[in-house]
Amino acid sequence: MTATLAVRPLEPGELRAALTLFAAAIHRGPVDDAGWARSAELYSPGRTFGVHADGALVATATSFPSELAVPGGAVLPMAAVTRVGVRADHTRRGLLTAMMRAQLEDAAERGEPVATLRASEARIYGRFGYGIATRGRAVRVRADAGLFRPDAPRGGSVRLLQRDEIVPVLRDVHERIALLRPGGISRTDGWWSASVGRRVDVEREHVLAAVHTGPQGDDGFAIAYLGEASGSTDRPLDVPDLHAADIGATAALWRFLMGIDLVEGVRARLRPLDEPLELLLADPRACAVTGNEDETWLRLVDVPSALAARSYGPAEPVLLAVHDPFLEANAGVYRIADGSAERVGPSGGPVRPELECTVSALAMAYLGDRRPSELVASGWWTAPDPAAVPRADAAFATAGTPWCGTYF
Ligand SMILES: CC(C)(COP(=O)(O)OP(=O)(O)OC[C@H]1O[C@@H](n2cnc3c(N)ncnc32)[C@H](O)[C@@H]1OP(=O)(O)O)[C@@H](O)C(=O)NCCC(=O)NCCS
Repeated sequence: MTATLAVRPLEPGELRAALTLFAAAIHRGPVDDAGWARSAELYSPGRTFGVHADGALVATATSFPSELAVPGGAVLPMAAVTRVGVRADHTRRGLLTAMMRAQLEDAAERGEPVATLRASEARIYGRFGYGIATRGRAVRVRADAGLFRPDAPRGGSVRLLQRDEIVPVLRDVHERIALLRPGGISRTDGWWSASVGRRVDVEREHVLAAVHTGPQGDDGFAIAYLGEASGSTDRPLDVPDLHAADIGATAALWRFLMGIDLVEGVRARLRPLDEPLELLLADPRACAVTGNEDETWLRLVDVPSALAARSYGPAEPVLLAVHDPFLEANAGVYRIADGSAERVGPSGGPVRPELECTVSALAMAYLGDRRPSELVASGWWTAPDPAAVPRADAAFATAGTPWCGTYF
């Protein structure tokens, strides 16, 4: 074995090789020059790591700067981790582990108390302190706008964008509404370019981009592409991106999509768990839930800062021990009381915790996706003092279901 495990930040001239390596790791071919011009924009200076062996890049991971909305409305600087790959002949030798360590240290140095990612497989990232913090459901609904109940909210008006409007207009609408909900993140220009601009300009796909206008102006949008047919007539419309500030905008956008001609159904993945599509339809069975998937994997990089940043419900004080073998500095006993949280002692010290969890299990409750009681019941948390469980539920309770809606 010749890999030295030496992780170093990559130079701009090495980034195309990094993308090619990542693409191969997920069984895709290299991008052409035009594709590279767009994809390159997601790379943010100094944030890409690599490992070399025999002069060749064999492992890479990057992140771009973003922000995460947390319960109570605070918005935290966040590392959005992506394009992680190890060459198939160098896996299971600790290269990802070495890159994760370098990347989390880098995020901490940059003052980013949280990092998030989307996981290709659910067994990879827990060991590095990531936990599932938002989930989404996949739905398929018949393409028939007549399915809506007559008294369902109608919302305002929906207009289609011209191709050259798509990125600038949707970027503005997203910026206005995405951080209103816990779990929402901000998108960089590089994200727009690599994710949407590439499909519009480089791959020349037919893109349906619709914007909803309500009383306060533009407050929702949807992007749709014609999907792959599963049978000769069954051409679905795929909706990878739909954000709406309220139920009126949600209803109007779904009504619009379901009314588009020459498609049989509308499919979307990773929709908010509480999106009330069935409630809007006269025949709720016209909306089939076809999957339930993890969305945000959250790493609390700086637990004291992250716990202090979110709000808490009214509850008697809770003493929670957090264990973090990967980033030991986070370990300790935290006291959640009077709507805030602070570290009151080291792990194993004189302050006896009432509840205990790992940093990844803390991430599962942090945005409000899971209640402490269900995490205790399923063995993710332990409760040396079971009387603290309902208090923790009250403290961590949030008004809505967290959701992100941005894939990266
Ligand atoms: C996933 C991937 C990055 C892991 O890289 P790696 O260098 O093999 O990971 P490491 O050697 O540091 O593994 C550390 C530990 O995680 C385990 N692990 C790593 N990948 C795993 C996987 N896919 N499933 C289960 N366990 C995994 C290893 O077995 C090892 O466990 P151990 O410490 O008990 O021995 C690499 O396999 C890869 O590139 N896969 C294809 C692309 C991909 O899925 N990228 C992630 C995109 S989100």
